[in-house]
Amino acid sequence: MNRKKFMGVMLLAGCVTVAMATLGWSGEDERWEHERGERGEHGVLPVTSGVEPVMNKTYKAECSACHFAYPAGLLPERSWVKIMNNLDDHFGDNASLNKETRETIENYLRGHAADHIPNRFSRSILRSVDENQTPMRITETGYFVHKHREIPARMVADNPQVKSFSNCLACHSSATHGSFDEHGVRIPGFGRWED
Ligand code: HEC
Ligand code: HEC
Repeated sequence: MNRKKFMGVMLLAGCVTVAMATLGWSGEDERWEHERGERGEHGVLPVTSGVEPVMNKTYKAECSACHFAYPAGLLPERSWVKIMNNLDDHFGDNASLNKETRETIENYLRGHAADHIPNRFSRSILRSVDENQTPMRITETGYFVHKHREIPARMVADNPQVKSFSNCLACHSSATHGSFDEHGVRIPGFGRWED
């Protein structure tokens, strides 16, 4: 290779490197999003796309009286522990349970928390929470806030059919099956969400 040709190749390689670096950092959205597969020893392993739906009967029965039973994979284990240990003052309500029931539910939630299940939403939520913090709400996590930042108050707080972001099921009609896909969202009174 002559000198001129060599310089050309080096210049091209430089451009490709810069382009890759730019792509890697572009798009705010990529911040909490992660590859749909985790890199393992044997390459990329598939990771399920939805969140594991609620499977525990006691949890479903006791924790869906006032709102939808949130999938355990949407909060870290330490959050569930904190929530389950403060049920007498639960967002202004008293949601206390007897010891046995409380322990059954807490064990289920801990075992299926975001730290323990492999799906992209759980991983993104976990990565968006500061290690020193223990959020009591899914709606408070960096990932949740980021994903819902473009939705105006008139569709949520001022919408009598929704009222609060905590009311996942109002907009994500397949949430009980663990599906939160943005393409399946319908906001009551407003219809499909178009980005
Ligand atoms: C007596 C009614 C009641 C019961 C029973 C109840 N909750 Fe709640 N929960 C609430 C209220 C009220 C809120 C706040 C909702 C809002 O801000 O719109 C809430 C919010 C939550 C949130 C935060 C949602 C968010 O904004 O991300 C979690 C998590 C939660 N509850 C878990 C549980 C668990 C686990 C149980 C069962 C042990 C339970 N709840 C039982 C009333 C209840
Ligand atoms: C007012 C309607 C509304 C409510 C209530 C709501 N969401 Fe969403 N959610 C949306 C919309 C719209 C999007 C898509 C946003 C976008 O892509 O710009 C979304 C996106 C998401 C995503 C990302 C989906 C993807 O494919 O990347 C997750 C996860 C999610 N929501 C979970 C929840 C959970 C959990 C709750 C309840 C604690 C909730 N949402 C409450 C409207 C809502």
